[in-house]
Amino acid sequence: MPLSDFLGALKDNPYFGAGFGLVGVGTALALARKGAQVGMIFFRRNYMITLEVPSRDKSYHWLLSWITKHANHTQHLSVETSYLQHESGRIQTQFDFHPSPGNHIIWYKHKWIRVERTREKQMVDLHTGTPWESVTFTALGRDREVFFNILQEARELALKQEEGRTVMYTAMGAEWRPFGFPRRRRPLSSVVLDQGVGERIVDDVKEFIGHPKWYTDRGIPYRRGYLLYGPPGCGKSSFITALAGELGYSICLMSLSDRSLSDDRLNHLLSVAPQQSIILLEDVDAAFVSRDLLPTENPQAYQGMGRLTFSGLLNALDGVASSEARIVFMTTNFIDRLDPALIRPGRVDVKQYVGHCTHWQLAQMFRRFYPAEPAGEGERFSQRALEVHPEISAAQVQGHFMLYKLDPAGSIDHVSKVKD
Ligand SMILES: Nc1ncnc2c1ncn2[C@@H]1O[C@H](COP(=O)(O)OP(=O)(O)OP(=O)(O)O)[C@@H](O)[C@H]1O
Ligand SMILES: [Mg+2]
Repeated sequence: MPLSDFLGALKDNPYFGAGFGLVGVGTALALARKGAQVGMIFFRRNYMITLEVPSRDKSYHWLLSWITKHANHTQHLSVETSYLQHESGRIQTQFDFHPSPGNHIIWYKHKWIRVERTREKQMVDLHTGTPWESVTFTALGRDREVFFNILQEARELALKQEEGRTVMYTAMGAEWRPFGFPRRRRPLSSVVLDQGVGERIVDDVKEFIGHPKWYTDRGIPYRRGYLLYGPPGCGKSSFITALAGELGYSICLMSLSDRSLSDDRLNHLLSVAPQQSIILLEDVDAAFVSRDLLPTENPQAYQGMGRLTFSGLLNALDGVASSEARIVFMTTNFIDRLDPALIRPGRVDVKQYVGHCTHWQLAQMFRRFYPAEPAGEGERFSQRALEVHPEISAAQVQGHFMLYKLDPAGSIDHVSKVKD
């Protein structure tokens, strides 16, 4: 007998006295449920506090790291892989673990806190193309202090991770996102450029940063452009990284051959770059080849491969002016391929050739690598190296020393292998 018939039969049965009793129980249950719901809502309104942080908020990533640290027993993780391909083809990846979407419970300062990370399936952040996300913190009580504390701690945690480190940003959509964990600062002295070259650039940048008023008084845009050019592996990128570390600046790395880059996007990105950062445009020759060469030979490259146009780049560079010191570094292996308009004063104020190792540089690198050796050994290494190969890059020397880590004499004896 189906249940409804059974209940019907019961109702008609005199022994169960007017099945109204049953109806009464049902109503009571429904009422109780309703009551519980209302009670819950009342309780939530008055005795629970929540904080929602959407993914576009600055503190969102700090909070994710904070949660990762505090929800250390959680078994449900999601991975965020950062991926960066350099012009050289070298690919760098980095995995960051974060608590996965869902609920996590954290015991924090004698309070249970529920953390709910939600990810919208239907909604996508149009700027970054990533799913729309948020985290919601729920705690018992009415004291908002706990959320302030969490935000504060998350910020301090993030800053601590960056202390003594250089943050690298890459462009994601219309904004700059930190790429991977901040790197340990590279000491300037570890990049050996030719005598006086490094010092000259460092002095120039420091002088620039130190005198904003000089620029405003004269109505000159407060920005400065640098171009380092020369053969591969001689220390252009390493020097810029070390310089950022020395200044306590971050680096905004931008690839001009990125196909999704348009004039507007570049303009926007340059104007919203984080404060105290160096904008680094690597291999500028790869995106644009001299205008004289092009229209006939390679019309597409003239357009800058993507939707970025050469005039768009010039405008964007001219437009970067703010009250903040704006420092733009460009690198290239082929300065003669660059359009003169790109490197005229005002866009590029300092041009510096970073070339193959000189005698002085080789001796210096030897001394730095083998500090215990007598000074004469560095000279001997340098002399012999230049006798066999007049054009050696610092990267080759570094690679050679690595092979003879504990054998300075061996590195001199086998110096002819430095280019192998
Ligand atoms: N002058 C230098 N002093 C110390 N190390 C150096 C120097 N130049 C290069 N190196 C080492 O060689 C490697 C490559 O250097 P880097 O990437 O700076 O070269 P680059 O000039 O930017 O080359 P590319 O033109 O290919 O981008 C790095 O690991 C760096 O440590
Ligand atoms: Mg480089």
